[in-house]
Amino acid sequence: MPGEVVGRIYGDVGLGAFRLTLAHPLERGEYLSVKDEGERDVLCQLDDVQRRSDLSLEKATEMVHGGSVDVQESFYGKARILGYREGGLIRVPQIPFAPGATVHRAQEPLIAEVLGLKTNGNAGAYLGLLRGHDLKVELDINALVQRHVSVLAKTGGGKSYLVGVLLEEFLRHRVTCIIIDPHGEYGSIRYKTEHIPKERAERFHVEPQSFREQVQEFSPDTKLNAEARPLTFSLGHLDARELLLFLGITNVRGYVAPMKSLLDEASQGAEDYTVKDLIRLARGREDGGALFEAIAQRLEYIDETRLLAPKGTSLTELVVQGKMTILNLRGVAPDVQELIVTRVATSFFDQRKRGKIPPLFLVLEEAHNFCPQQGQALSSRILKTIASEGRKFGLGLCVVSQRPARVDKSVLSQCAAQLILQVTNPLDVRAIAQSIEGLTDGMTEIIQGLPIGTCLVTGGGFTTPLFCEVRPRASRHGGESIKIVPNS
Ligand SMILES: Nc1ncnc2c1ncn2[C@@H]1O[C@H](COP(=O)(O)OP(=O)(O)OP(=O)(O)O)[C@@H](O)[C@H]1O
Ligand SMILES: [Mg+2]
Repeated sequence: MPGEVVGRIYGDVGLGAFRLTLAHPLERGEYLSVKDEGERDVLCQLDDVQRRSDLSLEKATEMVHGGSVDVQESFYGKARILGYREGGLIRVPQIPFAPGATVHRAQEPLIAEVLGLKTNGNAGAYLGLLRGHDLKVELDINALVQRHVSVLAKTGGGKSYLVGVLLEEFLRHRVTCIIIDPHGEYGSIRYKTEHIPKERAERFHVEPQSFREQVQEFSPDTKLNAEARPLTFSLGHLDARELLLFLGITNVRGYVAPMKSLLDEASQGAEDYTVKDLIRLARGREDGGALFEAIAQRLEYIDETRLLAPKGTSLTELVVQGKMTILNLRGVAPDVQELIVTRVATSFFDQRKRGKIPPLFLVLEEAHNFCPQQGQALSSRILKTIASEGRKFGLGLCVVSQRPARVDKSVLSQCAAQLILQVTNPLDVRAIAQSIEGLTDGMTEIIQGLPIGTCLVTGGGFTTPLFCEVRPRASRHGGESIKIVPNS
C-alpha cells in the first residue's frame, strides 16, 4: 500500500531522476514512492524543492507600500530514484516512469527494505533513527571493523558524542577497542548519563547505563589523570632516536651518537637498566660536554614522568578481549603522543598479524595530528599500513577529525564507512566529497547545514547514504563545551 499522494511527475523523465509538482511543501531528503510499469513500489528521494510564484517586482513593491496582493504559488521538486529490492538486491526500473504518474510519501516498510534497515533484532551498532522516521539505523559491526570508518565534523559538531554512542554499542557486542584519547574525554563512559529527557528516552529506546566493568584506562600522566593506570614503555626496547624523542629532543642530529654510546654502555652493565642508570652514566662521562649534560637533564625530567621503566606496560594488559582500553594522552607533549601512537599501533599490528591478540578496533581521535596530509608525523607510516592492510588481520580503524582536508588522503579513502556531521569549511567539504562515492550535490549542501545530532551515514552495510538522528548517550559524554559566560 503506497502512502499519501504528494505530487505528480512532469516534463522529461530520466532513468535516475525526475521532476515533480508538489501538492504542498515537503522537506528535502523526504522518501517518496512511485509505481513502475510492473506495479512495483519504487523508492525515491526528494533532492531539491522549489517554491515558484507569480509575484513580480511591481507587485512586491505594492506589498511594501501596504497594498494587498494576491500571490499564486506552487511547489516543485526534483527526486532521485533509489530503487526496489528483488532477491535481496537493489534494482532500478529500466523504463522511465510515466509523466503524470502519482508520487506518494514512502511507507516505512518500503524505506526499511530498500535502505536495508533492520526492523527487528539487535545485531548491529544502533546509532539512532532514520531522520524523520521511527526506523533504527544499525551499522554492520563486522563491516566497520573490516573496512574502517571515519567520523568527520567541524569542531563542536558532535564527533566525540557520536564515537561515544558507537563505543557503547561495541561494548554491548563485546568488541575489543582501544581509544587514542588526546584530550582525556572518554573515561566518562564508565558512568551513567545523569539524565535523558523522557521524550527522547522513549523515542530512541535508550536508558542510562554505565560501562565501568568493561573499561580500563591507561595514561603516561597519572597525576593529571587520576583514574588511569600508568602507561609505561620498556626502556630496553627503545633505540637511541626513539629515546631522544621521548626526551623531547626533536632536533636529534648531534645527539644520536652520544645517546647510542650511553645505551650500549648501560646494556653491558645490566639488562634491566633504569633512567637513573642512564643519568649516572651521562654525568660520569669523562669526555663530558654540553650534549651529555643536556641529555642528563632531559632524562631527569622524563624520570619524573615515569613514562620509561625497565619493564613497560605489556600488550596483554592493554588489549583485553571484549574490553575497551582508553589511552589517555592528556598532558602529554604532541611529539611524545606521536611516539606513543606509533609504538602501540605498531605492536597491535604486529601481534594481530601473528594472532597473539584478539581482533580489535582502534579509535584515533584528532587523526589529522597522527597522519597528516601535509608533512610527516612519526605515526603516519604505521597508520597508513593499518588503513591499507589492517582489514586482513582484523584490525579496524576509526579515524576521527575536525579537519578532514588535513588527514592523509590514503588513510581517509580506505574508510569504507563514513559518519559525517556538520562540516562548513569548503576545503573539508571538498575533501569529504572526494573521498565518498555516491555523494550527491544535494547531500554535500545538506552536510553544511546539519543540526547538531544529525549525521550522514555512508557505507557500513548500507548501499545508499542516509541521514540519521543520533541516539542519546546512555553513558556520560566527556567532551562538554565549556561556557565562558555562565547561562549564556
Ligand atoms: N547527538 C547529540 N545529542 C545531544 N547533544 C549533542 C549531540 N552531539 C553533540 N552534542 C553536544 O554538542 C557538544 C559538542 O559535541 P562533541 O564534544 O561531540 O563535539 P566534537 O565534534 O567532538 O568537538 P571537538 O572537535 O571540539 O572535539 C557537546 O556539548 C555535546 O553534548
Ligand atoms: Mg571531540
